[in-house]
Amino acid sequence: MRNFRKFAGAAMAAGLVLATMPAQATDDPIATRQAIMSSMGAAAGLGGGMMKGEIAYSPAAGKAAIATARAVALTFGDYFPAGSDQGKTGAAPSIWENPDGFAAELAKLAEATAKGVEASGKDGPADVEAFKAAMGPIFGTCKSCHETYRKKN
Ligand code: HEC
Repeated sequence: MRNFRKFAGAAMAAGLVLATMPAQATDDPIATRQAIMSSMGAAAGLGGGMMKGEIAYSPAAGKAAIATARAVALTFGDYFPAGSDQGKTGAAPSIWENPDGFAAELAKLAEATAKGVEASGKDGPADVEAFKAAMGPIFGTCKSCHETYRKKN
């Protein structure tokens, strides 16, 4: 729970209200990691919308999207205990068969988000071009990890 609190704290600091977060604390690692990844989906929706010009860009919103991705990077990997490959999960068996490979994908996410936070500065990326430069590498990690470590359907 400590890490989930850390995640929630970081997400709240980013100013995001997470509709996907469970109202009650849960010890179910599958539900927890799915809630964390749902917030990644929300951050990607916000970030992608601004990159495409569908949502007006604001530095604060850019900062929030990156901070959320960072919070995901810092916590997601903690919720894959042995046995949690069973049940209602989109996590592929390859996570447990090839833990080093999965750790490498988590490391890519950690690196991309650390750089993104650095580029964000205090007030967020100044314009949408600066945001694209910071968020683009984070988006690059989604497909790379999902391809191998997320079930196809
Ligand atoms: C290090 C690997 C990894 C990275 C990087 C990653 N994901 Fe995921 N993602 C997963 C896994 C594994 C699942 C399935 C989790 C489960 O169901 O237990 C998942 C599930 C999801 C889900 C479904 C969550 C739910 O409600 O069940 C969404 C949405 C998602 N990812 C979006 C993204 C986006 C957007 C990015 C990039 C910005 C991203 N992911 C990056 C591994 C990753």
